[in-house]
Amino acid sequence: MTDVVLEVQSVQAGYGDLTILHGVDLQVAACSWTTIIGANGAGKSTLLKVVAGLLACRTGHLRFEGQDITRLDALARLRGGIGLVPQGRCNFPALSVSENLQLGAYSRRLPRQTLMEEANAMADRFPRLRARWNTLAGNLSGGEQQILEMAMVLMARPRLLLLDEPSLGLSPQAMDMVFDTIRELTASGMTVLMVEQNAQQALERCDAGVVMEMGRVSLHAPAREVLNHPEIRAMFLGLT
Ligand SMILES: Nc1ncnc2c1ncn2[C@@H]1O[C@H](COP(=O)(O)OP(=O)(O)O)[C@@H](O)[C@H]1O
Ligand SMILES: [Mg+2]
Repeated sequence: MTDVVLEVQSVQAGYGDLTILHGVDLQVAACSWTTIIGANGAGKSTLLKVVAGLLACRTGHLRFEGQDITRLDALARLRGGIGLVPQGRCNFPALSVSENLQLGAYSRRLPRQTLMEEANAMADRFPRLRARWNTLAGNLSGGEQQILEMAMVLMARPRLLLLDEPSLGLSPQAMDMVFDTIRELTASGMTVLMVEQNAQQALERCDAGVVMEMGRVSLHAPAREVLNHPEIRAMFLGLT
């Protein structure tokens, strides 16, 4: 049996009077890479926000590694192992790569020396960041900024990484670099749940695909199956 890291059960959520998620059920397997696809406005980003604790569930439950986290706030979830890279740029453009990495660990309140050591260790893992160590984040390429943002969140030591459209605005080459990085992360034990508009490219590489339609999960299957599903191909992948 596969270990379930994240369990989303009958979750309803929304903004003000608006209900966006109408009872979402989802189980995410340990060390897997899952991609959520769906039309604009389907509720994909809303679901990631609910998992990260940035938006409350109105009804339903969330379990992470078997613990009920439904009532934990975002900081507690980050400390507890859930990291989110939100949609769009989220680094500090006027700070260097090194400073951004150090800020990524703010939730852990590390002593200065340890913080520097860990930022350095992160740069060993991502040589591209090492090469740009003192560069202002705002001067990095789009692909480098996305890698930096993943690395910033990794400084918080999550075990579940949530990524909202990591390839948005990237060249095909930069997208490959980002997807390679995600595969390395899951190979080393991370679980990744990602929202992606480049559905075909993502599904060709990830493990499982989730289709969201109007605030519900309409399909959750091995990525290959989602990729080969005739209606999904026509509706979301622009393929026939
Ligand atoms: N902060 C917000 N306040 C009000 N409505 C929002 C907010 N964020 C998103 N929405 C609405 O919720 C719906 C789902 O949005 P979202 O989860 O961002 O969709 P997706 O990521 O699938 O494109 C959309 O109709 C959007 O307009
Ligand atoms: Mg979105």
